[in-house]
Formats: sequence, C-alpha cells, structure tokens
Amino acid sequence: MTKRIGVLTSGGDCAGLNAAIRAITYHAIGTYGWQVIGIRKGTTGLINRPLEYQELTVEFCDSALLRSGGTTLGSTNKDDPFAFPNPDGTRSDRSYDFVEGYEQLKLDALIGIGGDGSLHILRRLADQGGINLVAIPKTIDNDLGHTETAIGYHTALEVATEALDRLQPTAASHQRVMVLEVMGRDAGHIALGAGVAGGADVILIPEIPYTLENICKKITSLAKKGRTFALVIVAEAVKKENGEIATLNKEGGRPRYGGIGQYLGEKIQSLTGAETRVTTLGHVQRGGQPCSWDRIVASAFGVSAVDLIAAGKFDRMVAWQNRQVVDVPIADAIVRYQAVEQGEIMVKTAQGLGIYVGEL
Ligand code: F6P
Repeated sequence: MTKRIGVLTSGGDCAGLNAAIRAITYHAIGTYGWQVIGIRKGTTGLINRPLEYQELTVEFCDSALLRSGGTTLGSTNKDDPFAFPNPDGTRSDRSYDFVEGYEQLKLDALIGIGGDGSLHILRRLADQGGINLVAIPKTIDNDLGHTETAIGYHTALEVATEALDRLQPTAASHQRVMVLEVMGRDAGHIALGAGVAGGADVILIPEIPYTLENICKKITSLAKKGRTFALVIVAEAVKKENGEIATLNKEGGRPRYGGIGQYLGEKIQSLTGAETRVTTLGHVQRGGQPCSWDRIVASAFGVSAVDLIAAGKFDRMVAWQNRQVVDVPIADAIVRYQAVEQGEIMVKTAQGLGIYVGEL
C-alpha cells in the first residue's frame, strides 16, 4: 500500500537540513514507492489555513539541494503550537489545528527534524493526535542526548575554526588579543572543538567556571615567552564573573544570548594592557553550505528514518553511536541534555595542549 509521509524542519535552521530532506525523499520514493509531503515553516504549515505544504519529488530534490544551506521547507523557533501567537499579541493552543492538518493531508507518518525544544513539542503533538512520529536530530549546539552528532554541528565547527584561522594572522600582525564569541546555547561543544582545531589559547565554555585572573595570567605568560598575540574563544552562554548571563534581548520569554565576548574583551584589555578586539560570529555558523560530514550524517539519518517508518517503529529518534545509525526513544534523547563533560577527551586534549579551559 502506498504510504504518504510528511517531513518538517523545526527550530533554528542549520546546514545539512536539505541533505536530510533529499535523502528522505529519494529513499521513500525510490525504495518504497511512497509519497512525500514537505510541510512548510515547521509545525506552522499544518496550523495555518490553507495548509502550507508541497509534494516533494526526486526532481525537486536535485543535486543542488544537497549542497545548499538553510531549509527549503522553512522553519520556526517561536510558533509553539501549544501557545501560538495571535496577531493581537495573545497566545492560544492551536495543537488541535496541527493534528487536524495532519489528518487532512492523510499522512501515515511524520518525520520531524529538530533539536530538543522542537522534538519535545512534536512528541506532545504526536501523543495528542496519535501521529506516527520519527525524529531526526539537528542542532549546531550538539546537545541532544544519546547521539554523538546532530545535523549542523560539524558545519558550525568548521565555520568557527575558519574564523580562528582568519583571526590568527591579523592578531599576529597587530600584536593583539582576539576574542571570538561563538554560539552554543548552554553547551560548549562548538567553542571547545573549534578552540582545539583553531589553536586557541583560552577556551571558555558554560560547563566549566573560569577566573579573569587566570585568563589574564595565561595571556601574560604567552607574552613573556615572546608570543605577540593570543586567541580566546568563548561560548555565548558563558556567564560573567558575577554569574550574570550576557543577553541581547528577550524574545518569546527566552533571552537571546550575546555580549560575553565584548565583556571579556574589555576586561582582558584593561587587566593585561594588551590591545584586544572582539568578533561575534553569530548566524554565519548556521548558514552556508553544509560540510561533507553534515551531508553524510544527514543522508544516513534521512535513509534510516524512512526505514524506521517502513518497520513500523515510531516515537523513535535516529542517532549516531559508535559508527552506526541506531534508534532511541525520542523521550530519552530530549531528557538527557548532552553538555560537555569535564573528563571528556576534548577537555583533556585542550588541557594537554596547555590551553586555559577554566578551573578544573
Ligand atoms: O540552538 C541553536 C542556536 O543557534 C543557538 O546556538 C543560539 O543561541 C540560538 O539558536 C539563536 O537563535 P535565534 O536564531 O533565534 O537567534
């Protein structure tokens, strides 16, 4: 019997989403002969009337899609169906519209590509509407449990590493301290990985406390050894010394992180006397072409998610573990927040390289 499956991307976008959409479409149509319906704007496409969707074909998912950034379906990270924003500023529960939209499209199953927040919402919707849900993890923060990687993380890592590669020569030319602020909402994986790959002298992540005194000691000790520059990488969720989070503004009740780089840059300059410049990388970490590893992970996840539907296994998330794609309960993946652990190899590596990674 021909199945009709839906696919949507939800939450912040990242590189590699289109590669997953393509893999789902190729495998569902090519191997199983199913129909694939792409839902537009994340969950919002099934809430809005008329419904916002399009049939995905092999021709639509051409080879250019594999290489492109963003998500061809669009996404949302603020239109929670359980508290959906109305034009007058109030919010209402529109979860029933979502379920009705799923039924109207006569879908047999839904693949949701998202991070912890989106998967939490999708799971609630699936519970409520008896939706056959399969999840694919995506997040540049790489903080989902039970999977070693998620779509988008490696591209963000590449971008942050390249930023250090570009900052190093100019830092050396001008004898400056360069502070690079990277994303990573509450998790330091991007800062830690890029810091090691890009030769940082100081790596600051939210999981490990630091002191300004020891950051400055590290920078002055380099200067004493004749090093004329220093590279500092800091994750956006690192707190100020007094424990305050550096935020830009609040959107939908949750603060937007930003500013810790500037805060640290000013402190470093005043405490060490070294001329300091700050770069905030922001959303360039999410856009652009996916690196090869994200394309591989996205393709493998897309194929395996379709196979899960074929096997009738629902409420599962595909996950990367020990060089294999496995599947785990979605509930387990979202409940276990994967922060950087103090004893993990990347922390040990940074320490072994003499990088200041905070007070361990
Ligand atoms: O969770 C992914 C992420 O890119 C975080 O690293 C960052 O704090 C946040 O999303 C930015 O969200 P927005 O796109 O709403 O500014």
